[in-house]
Amino acid sequence: MAHFAYRNGELHAEDVPLARIAGRYGTPCYVYSRAALTGAWRAWDGAFAGHDHLVCYAVKANSNLAVLNILARLGSGFDIVSGGELARVLAAGGDAGRVVFSGVGKSADEMRQALAAGILCFNVESAAELSRLSRVAAACGRTAAVSLRINPDIDARTHPYIATGLKQNKFGIAWEEALALYRRARELPGIAVTGAGCHIGSQITEIGPFVAALGRILELADALRAEGMVLGHIDAGGGLGIRYRDESPPRIADYAAALVEGLGKRPVRLLLEPGRSLAGPAGVLVTRVEYLKRGAARNFAVVDAAMNDLMRPALYDAFHEVLPVARAAGPQTEWDIVGPVCETGDFLARGRSLALAEGDLVAIMTAGAYGMSMSSNYNSRPRAAEVVVDGGAMHLARERETVADLMARESILP
Ligand code: LLP
Repeated sequence: MAHFAYRNGELHAEDVPLARIAGRYGTPCYVYSRAALTGAWRAWDGAFAGHDHLVCYAVKANSNLAVLNILARLGSGFDIVSGGELARVLAAGGDAGRVVFSGVGKSADEMRQALAAGILCFNVESAAELSRLSRVAAACGRTAAVSLRINPDIDARTHPYIATGLKQNKFGIAWEEALALYRRARELPGIAVTGAGCHIGSQITEIGPFVAALGRILELADALRAEGMVLGHIDAGGGLGIRYRDESPPRIADYAAALVEGLGKRPVRLLLEPGRSLAGPAGVLVTRVEYLKRGAARNFAVVDAAMNDLMRPALYDAFHEVLPVARAAGPQTEWDIVGPVCETGDFLARGRSLALAEGDLVAIMTAGAYGMSMSSNYNSRPRAAEVVVDGGAMHLARERETVADLMARESILP
């Protein structure tokens, strides 16, 4: 089912016209569909139904409390990368016992916070982090469940900024060093080895790299078993791509079948950390045309959203489809959709054929993941509002910031 679709020429989120949302809450505005989020989570959970598993939504993709709460109510686990994300998960009603903590730079404070909350497991990314975690856990009289994040040196064939599973990337523990570190972990106070995992990158559109990476982790797990270290879970990470333009990413069911087949008869729980494929298609960014500016070389539609609201085009040259909120019949022109920020890199889309007039609303599609969560206040622009649509109802999930909010923690010299 399409959660963002035209009805009588008007683009809707579920049963609510986007124009009505823009009228009520202003623009730019992120709009999420509860049904899309729920459907995507159920597709993930259902795809692994035949195998012991836990879907741990990668909070970084979209950390709005309402979004987290929708997933928490479904029984989701969460993959976090900071104490801030842990606080959000707990505030949204998430279960700490279903939280895995990833990231290369966990501070001692964050470790204490996660131990006190009772998270499921730390995805440890280096020998130094393992030593610190042991000290911190022992000092507070707790045991940290640990899964080493292995860098399998597999090419995910994605944008270089979001590839994480190669030797030259900062992530994970080199596969060759993993066995030795597990032996050490077994001896360390405050540490209980529970799993192994990897995360090789994001927006991956083929199954091959996932299967290859899992194969390396399983090779390691088998070697550990031979030494009497039996792992309770394998974490396959996130990374499954979605369709922004013309990509044809694997279907979740096919991805799941390939992983489960890879596991063979091993009685091990499978953890998954999808972010983009849950949240991406579930959100759009609605923005209004401020000015049309025709030029000799290019035509610019200046809209009220900018790179500070949606950074992906500027940062990764990412493509997002742009749809008019009201279908217009007039002649189409090729537009670069740009924002008010003073940078040439401030574009949301380029060379799009649209019939636009000043004041029109457009929707930047597939913006539910890494949109709002990567937004900033650059150019002293208050961040956008976020609205969740649920059938015919709309819920303001985050108020638009004010300029006063932006200045609230600053002060001038006496
Ligand atoms: N697990 C770990 C340890 C991760 O680092 C990530 C994403 C995920 C899971 C979720 O991956 P996903 O299923 O969303 O691909 N800002 C970039 C994407 C950065 C991804 C960072 N790590 C973008 O907008 O394309």
